[in-house]
Amino acid sequence: MFEKTRLQLTLAYLGVLSLILTLFTVAVRWNFTRSLNRQFNTKLENLAQAAAFNMDNEDGELETDEDEILVNEQQTIEWFDLEGEIVGEQGEDKLDVSLNLEQLENIQNHPNSIRSFSKPVYNLETEELIGYVQVSESLVELNNTIRRLDYGLGSGIAIALLASGVSSIWLTRRAMQPIEASFERLKQFTADASHELRSPLMAIKTNADVALKYPEGMRDTDAEKFSAIASASNQMTKLTENLLLLARTDKGVELQLELVDLNFLLTDLMQLYKPQAEAKQLSWQLELEPELYLSGDRLLLTQLFTNLLQNALQYTSFGDSVTVNGKRIDSQIQIEIADTGIGIAPDHLDKIFERFWRADKSRSYQFGRSGLGLAIVKEILQVHHGTVSVDSKLGKGSCFTLIFPR
Ligand SMILES: Nc1ncnc2c1ncn2[C@@H]1O[C@H](COP(=O)(O)OP(=O)(O)OP(=O)(O)O)[C@@H](O)[C@H]1O
Ligand SMILES: [Mg+2]
Repeated sequence: MFEKTRLQLTLAYLGVLSLILTLFTVAVRWNFTRSLNRQFNTKLENLAQAAAFNMDNEDGELETDEDEILVNEQQTIEWFDLEGEIVGEQGEDKLDVSLNLEQLENIQNHPNSIRSFSKPVYNLETEELIGYVQVSESLVELNNTIRRLDYGLGSGIAIALLASGVSSIWLTRRAMQPIEASFERLKQFTADASHELRSPLMAIKTNADVALKYPEGMRDTDAEKFSAIASASNQMTKLTENLLLLARTDKGVELQLELVDLNFLLTDLMQLYKPQAEAKQLSWQLELEPELYLSGDRLLLTQLFTNLLQNALQYTSFGDSVTVNGKRIDSQIQIEIADTGIGIAPDHLDKIFERFWRADKSRSYQFGRSGLGLAIVKEILQVHHGTVSVDSKLGKGSCFTLIFPR
């Protein structure tokens, strides 16, 4: 019963956790790559600065210092004259990057994973522009570092999710334990209370019936009171029986399985309620395919169809029609109970199977309804692995469709 809630809780917990982890990972990755890129760029700028000092023009001739100032093998330095012609180079792995005079003092990313920085070079004494320097470095190492970070974060998330998945199952199980235990106690209480109420109710009913059997010497008003007592105790007996039945199905009732002939069962029930249908001048039809056999609990199935037929009788008006249709569809048996009665409002359709729910709450006592009929139908179908659906239009009628696996 709590499996669905447990699963929903675990999934919700995992969902929230994955969201937090994802946000955390995105933030860490963003910060880390930003700082790596900054470091990389500063390194390029510093190198360019140093390389600019290594260029000078002596007697109109541009000269570059031969001293190696590269930090690693992935870097190159290129010096250019004012026309953009290369005048000096450093670096083993020459990265073939041409100078773009439009974009000096800008960090540029080139398509083949190279980043470069170029700046103008001025004569230190005269401060006139004498050429340009461009430093470049391959991004392979930087990209590798970011890839390693991605792998690390990815596997961290996977491990964290796995661990939290296991712990969330354990936690939700622990959190649900007290709820399940109190629900168990509540079910037990309902079952015990309904059971204990049966005998005193029976005593009230029997005494009222006996008193009504010999009304001589009884005042008319007293006779009315006794019949009200008998009727109220009848309703209470029905209510306690319904509650007891629900408590049994909640607990996982042990089915008394047998081969039930639905033709026989439904014909019998339709016959039983025929007088009431005739009193309301209902068209009371039964259309069944032959040989509708079902392995099920006869008493529970009788209760199920009784509830639906009673509803069909209750929620129809004079002259309406009620049709029960049964057929086999592949390996299933489908029973439809359709009426042309008052129908159900669309926003009530998902509530009618709830316990104690009634569309017209005000008159329930008058008609002895508790709103348990359809809840019992649903439970009985569930223990028979069947399903129920309803199609209804307010003022036009309702059709309850039951599907049983054969
Ligand atoms: N065939 C139907 N046509 C219209 N409304 C229906 C029909 N069957 C059920 N309902 C609506 O669904 C509600 C719940 O039905 P349910 O059988 O569970 O309870 P109930 O008939 O009110 O009481 P109980 O069956 O316990 O005597 C009803 O009160 C009624 O409003
Ligand atoms: Mg009912």
